[in-house]
Amino acid sequence: MPLGLSACTGPLSTLDPAGPAAASSAGLWWVMLGGATVLALLVFALLALVYLRPGVGARVRGRDWVVYGGLVMPVVVLTALVGYALFAGERLLAHPDENVPRVAARGEMWVWRFSYPDHPGAGETDVLHIPAGQAVDVLVTSSDVVHSFWVPRLAGKIDAIPGHENVVRIKADRPGAYNGVCAEFCGMGHTDMRFMVVAHDPADYEAFMAGGAQ
Ligand code: CUA
Repeated sequence: MPLGLSACTGPLSTLDPAGPAAASSAGLWWVMLGGATVLALLVFALLALVYLRPGVGARVRGRDWVVYGGLVMPVVVLTALVGYALFAGERLLAHPDENVPRVAARGEMWVWRFSYPDHPGAGETDVLHIPAGQAVDVLVTSSDVVHSFWVPRLAGKIDAIPGHENVVRIKADRPGAYNGVCAEFCGMGHTDMRFMVVAHDPADYEAFMAGGAQ
């Protein structure tokens, strides 16, 4: 297992979550993998059965194979998975909350410009500062073409669209540096459009920002 999963950790791994939103997405991924594995094993087992015991398959009417295997089972499985995905997705939405601090991210070929409504003097390119252990709403927009703001270990992707503001709520459980990338092809510089989210110890964050982060 360590060999198989060794590629699942790392600075851009969604399977190595460092906050609740990413943990929820990772949980959904594991549930999907588990469901797909069970169904694949069932199909392979049935296939093996009809090959090894030719009489068994013939005992079930063709119509029953279609009704139960082709309709009933997919409806039950897909309904459960869709329900779980909707429930998990709903909890990820950035419902308006005035207690959640806001920061702004603007994509621009091919950098990210970050600014802070609460700290007008602060702001820099390709590094975003947030307090650890606290949810932060990132207001995401673009100056030119469509980009996508993605910090895999903290949350899912959100499009950066010119003239429009999308909001993604991120939270880092612990202080640290988390890699981010642009996740929408946006031209020759797309692969270099990387950035970093630095989560500070909450006690240090205000002092850091008040110091006029450069
Ligand atoms: Cu910006 Cu890809």
